[in-house]
Amino acid sequence: MEITYYGQSCFLCDLGGTKVLFDPFISPNPLAADIDLDSIQCDYILLSHGHADHVADAEYLLKKTGATLVAAFEIVTWYQAKGIENVHPMNIGGKVHLPFGTVKMVNAIHSSALPDGTYAGQAAGFVVESAEKTFYFAGDTALTYDMKLIGDRYRVDFAFLPIGDNFTMDVEDSLVAANYVNTKKIVGMHYDTFPYIEIDHVEALELARRAQKELLLLEIGQTIEL
Ligand code: NI
Ligand code: MN
Repeated sequence: MEITYYGQSCFLCDLGGTKVLFDPFISPNPLAADIDLDSIQCDYILLSHGHADHVADAEYLLKKTGATLVAAFEIVTWYQAKGIENVHPMNIGGKVHLPFGTVKMVNAIHSSALPDGTYAGQAAGFVVESAEKTFYFAGDTALTYDMKLIGDRYRVDFAFLPIGDNFTMDVEDSLVAANYVNTKKIVGMHYDTFPYIEIDHVEALELARRAQKELLLLEIGQTIEL
């Protein structure tokens, strides 16, 4: 499958021709200044939680593309009040079968409110099983032993894990998380966007090498095949 990185925790995954966008935060991100928001086509937008650095461009893209929003019930309700009609509300522990595969909403240890302060339910991650690959998108989270459940239940090909520290796991925690979910391949996210979460790339890659993990730090705008 093909993935494109748009900065912070935003990725576009092409799953057999269906385009699934995670946590769009592009137009306010100076590091993503070269990305043309209007060039992004998507069929689904999955939001891990309500914080602005994950949802900033969601309303615009949902309205422009007609994509279906998949998120916590409280987040979906907030977007419905803004006129978004294509939605699928979920909550932690639930699974939905969609045309590109199954999406399970899993626990994240984090807070969640929408940009205007509205309660956004519990922060979440997603496990996506598609015909090509099974992957875990952790959202914003601390390292938690619950991740072992994912490793026990799924054959995870790779995981999108936050590595920026301060608000989420750091690189070292993400390496433990990769062990818990039983994958060797980590796509790093939630780093460098703000001073609080700047990381040393060389050190991060060295830590991953020593832990015998493959850590991918994509360029913003870069597309790779996984
Ligand atoms: Ni957050
Ligand atoms: Mn965040």
